Amino acid sequence: MKSAFWPLFLMATLFSCDKSTDKSPEERKILDEKHAAVADSLAEVKKAQECDCTQVPCVAVTFDDGPGPYTEQILDILKQNDAHATFYVLGKNVLNFPHILQRTHAEGHDIGNHSWDHKNLKSLSAEKVAFEVNETNAQVQKTIGKMPTSFRPPYGSYSKKTADIANMPVIIWSVDTNDWRYRTHAHLVKAVQAAKANDVILMHDIHKNTMETLPDVLKILKDKGLHIVSVETLFKKQGLKPKETYGLHPDKGPYQPKPDSTAATKTAAAPAPAKKAHPSKKAVLKH
Ligand code: NI
Repeated sequence: MKSAFWPLFLMATLFSCDKSTDKSPEERKILDEKHAAVADSLAEVKKAQECDCTQVPCVAVTFDDGPGPYTEQILDILKQNDAHATFYVLGKNVLNFPHILQRTHAEGHDIGNHSWDHKNLKSLSAEKVAFEVNETNAQVQKTIGKMPTSFRPPYGSYSKKTADIANMPVIIWSVDTNDWRYRTHAHLVKAVQAAKANDVILMHDIHKNTMETLPDVLKILKDKGLHIVSVETLFKKQGLKPKETYGLHPDKGPYQPKPDSTAATKTAAAPAPAKKAHPSKKAVLKH
């Protein structure tokens, strides 16, 4: 075995080509376009395999703030469970992890816009809001050849003005797992146990605990008889329209940045002081 290894290795080295230098820019562009077309076809096939949520109970699982170091493991777990999710990505992270976004798209998950670098859009000028949204859309388009299908403002903080500028469907959430704050298996599992049909569940693919707990999260949802689908599939019947808001908990009204009201959160810790309470602020500091 040992004697056969080196000749084979040398042959492979001699006959292999350096993919980064042996193509002209035009040839590379054509190959990139072909690659994007194949990824798009794969994504369409995967999408077509999703459930009809008018016939079966569905739930949308969403991940914010990536792509990041745990996203690929999350994709592996979703694939093992035949589940589709929606990833609300930051433009700056797409720039850092383009191959992860390409894989996410090719495996049939929805890609949503979560701004360029997670600023509170309500505190920005119209020009800066437009930059946050448009630059991220452009980066996603450049990376996967397709625009994001919906928008989730950082902190769930938006106004009519920001929704008008974004000019995309605005997706909030109805189950806030607070996975960014209580990074334990027990908390995440308890939070997800509250989910029911038509809920939009908020998690973050930048946290290790979220990735490690995901198999149990998916099992809980499946045991409830819920089919795990992308946001676009969940709202397929009513259709997603630009500037309109979807996913809010019907009993809670507009999102307020305060501790979640689930039993899990009540018992997990004393409520944080109001100024400290915002989720993604901590996430931003971490990233
Ligand atoms: Ni966020």
